[in-house]
Amino acid sequence: MNAIWGQIAKRQRPSLRTIFDTDPGRLAYLTLSQGPLRFDWSKTHLTKEVIADFLALTDEAGFAAARDALFAGDPVNNTEGRAAEHSAERGEGNVESVARARMLHRRMRALIDAIEGEALGPVRHILHIGIGGSALGPKLIIDALSDDGARYEVAVVSNVDGTALEQAIARFDPHATLIAVASKTFTTTETMLNAASAINWMVEAGVEDPYGRVIALTAAPERAMEWGVDETRVLPFGETVGGRYSLWSSIGFPAALALGWDAFESLLEGAAAMDRHFRLARPSENAPLLAAFVDQYYVRAMGAQTRAVFAYDERLKLLPSYLQQLEMESNGKQVKRDGSPVDGPTAPVTWGGVGTDAQHAVFQLLHQGTVLVPVEFIASIEPGNLLDPAHHRALLVNCFAQGAALMRGKDNDVDPARAYPGDRPSTTILLDDVTPEALGALIAFYEHRTFANAVLMGINPFDQFGVELGKDIARSIDAEGTGAFDPSTRALIDLALPGG
Ligand code: F6P
Repeated sequence: MNAIWGQIAKRQRPSLRTIFDTDPGRLAYLTLSQGPLRFDWSKTHLTKEVIADFLALTDEAGFAAARDALFAGDPVNNTEGRAAEHSAERGEGNVESVARARMLHRRMRALIDAIEGEALGPVRHILHIGIGGSALGPKLIIDALSDDGARYEVAVVSNVDGTALEQAIARFDPHATLIAVASKTFTTTETMLNAASAINWMVEAGVEDPYGRVIALTAAPERAMEWGVDETRVLPFGETVGGRYSLWSSIGFPAALALGWDAFESLLEGAAAMDRHFRLARPSENAPLLAAFVDQYYVRAMGAQTRAVFAYDERLKLLPSYLQQLEMESNGKQVKRDGSPVDGPTAPVTWGGVGTDAQHAVFQLLHQGTVLVPVEFIASIEPGNLLDPAHHRALLVNCFAQGAALMRGKDNDVDPARAYPGDRPSTTILLDDVTPEALGALIAFYEHRTFANAVLMGINPFDQFGVELGKDIARSIDAEGTGAFDPSTRALIDLALPGG
């Protein structure tokens, strides 16, 4: 690692309690409000000096130019020779790409209007079939923002395990179901097999024109048409929108249909406001960049191998699994942009859950275990329910207490099993409420934080070649049966897949 990293590593690391005692003004520069979000990084070991080091590193890494290139629609995904234009989907970026995204959104809206007008017959259920980025985003938004009045019942089916599809269709009437096949490439085996089985389910139920009930959400419209979807029901999006960054495009179709177009538009607007913040705010006041400093500090200077995200809000319970793909598929890399080996660890393992449940399951390790885990708490000031306000109060009290306990710790010289070392870092993100606008801003914040981390490490966050080898081997097991594999794999195949 370079000289600045050497400097960061050499700096003294006073405990969090000492930092607060000696630097009472830290709340002022380590908290930040941006639209409906408020960030608090004060319970981390970042100090003015460490931030100054990171600002120097930011310059040295060419952050400003990299960010400009991202928003200009330059081919920042250098290994695939493509731009990464998710922000254009929300109106920020290359002018032509923004115009194209707007046109495709209008097309999506027109189809939604037609569906609402029953042009495709009665629709009560939406079976969204997709995997990875073609599932996790829509699933998160629908789960977070649906209230009891949702007009459609939506099931997102991703796993190739037939049990997933079987459970979803068991609840649905095939004559009142719309199938949304979501796949950027329209080749992903899991999705194509699930889509074929969903069509069979309709055929067996006597649905007259099953393909007429399919909407394709894809960057490969020709493949969708070849597969049998009429052009009028293909909702394309641009090749430059990466799978895990695609919920803003037509991949968000089931969310736009189920939540209503206004909500979808507010989600995009919330994200666009975060885009502008990320593009224009000074580095020392830039939320995604400051969050990346925290990530880099713990992973690269302190050797943390994981980070944990706990949503203290049931509406955001799917956020940790969404972030797992965003962060680990983007930044779980071993080479830099130029192909040379990375000069330090890259993405940590992202994991998490919901509070308060996690307190009664995994927090023991966070308080007394031997693993360094920077924790992120996310909560909403407004509750998502109409029950006695005591519920929401208890939720927030617990959230804030955990951060304080992790930091403060508690000595116990008499009984070490009851001692808490403390000095354990956490970040808190408070939303005004879980609205479409706030959720859009929150997700865009995580996208840009992932990008900022990648720039600081010199890696390309927009490819994912690591997933290909397993797919290749699965294909050859299918094609070659038991022949060409190691003894362990061959034995497993012989046992569970007789006949190869
Ligand atoms: O295999 C990984 C991956 O390519 C992800 O990056 C992507 O989100 C997912 O598969 C689904 O891909 P597609 O949208 O092309 O079906």
